[in-house]
Amino acid sequence: MKIVSTVSEVREIVKEWKKSGLTIGLVPTMGYLHEGHASLIRRASKENDRVIVSDFVNPTQFAPTEDLESYPRDIERDAKVCEQEGADVIFHPTTEEMYFPNATTFVNMTGPSEELCGKSRPIHFRGVCTVVSKLFNIASPDKAYFGQKDAQQLAVIKRMVRDLNFDIEIIGCPIVREADGLARSSRNVYLSKDERQAALILHKALEEGRKMVLCGETSASVIKKSISDIIESEPLAKIDYVEIVSFPDVEKVEDIDGDILAAVAVYIGKTRLIDNFITENGKEI
Ligand code: PAF
Repeated sequence: MKIVSTVSEVREIVKEWKKSGLTIGLVPTMGYLHEGHASLIRRASKENDRVIVSDFVNPTQFAPTEDLESYPRDIERDAKVCEQEGADVIFHPTTEEMYFPNATTFVNMTGPSEELCGKSRPIHFRGVCTVVSKLFNIASPDKAYFGQKDAQQLAVIKRMVRDLNFDIEIIGCPIVREADGLARSSRNVYLSKDERQAALILHKALEEGRKMVLCGETSASVIKKSISDIIESEPLAKIDYVEIVSFPDVEKVEDIDGDILAAVAVYIGKTRLIDNFITENGKEI
């Protein structure tokens, strides 16, 4: 496995692979890889001849008040995970390599990017769409892999790929959880022992909501209230949003009808965590 840091190195490698007719899977990440990322890399290795993992903490998706500086980084550890899971190349560029200092082109989306995290983090998806488009243009993958923990991001990327005619298949992969239910996230490292315990409330509340949907409750506001009440019972938790939207369109719904995404963003202390579940026509997926 190779670690490369420039666009031209990736292009050179990709050119050779394409000449030999090999298929390429891309796993875009911001590094500090955990079991969730490992599952994406594993799947990409199974489904493609070659796998590129990008490892880049993308500054354009962080607002100035957010955790860009403190976001955890550990490229040596990431390299071990990538190697173990069968990646062929890690693309680990600097910010200067990824962005021209006078860059003025960004990918802006309306629709699926506007609700949920788009409300609390107004520039976030512009940064995500821009960097992911750049990665698609650099790595020319056949398939790209994203986790369902960032379900809105998955919907946004799928919409972008459709709207901009990227010839890439987007594969959404299931949320990977700790044994006690906490969704794996690079940001879990910020949690103190007490906060780590308190963070379990997200999964607990969502599980209750999911059961309600599966038992036939169709009122989004009844389900949202139940989820919110459970989260609010935890003193260390502060709700950013509890929302139910259509999936993958990410439009607010009043009645559970068709495929829905129930998503929460909750501060546990200073750490903002997200989690969700998706049901299809009131049934488990
Ligand atoms: O999900 C992430 O880690 C990031 O948003 C992504 C897709 C790698 C873009 O920076």
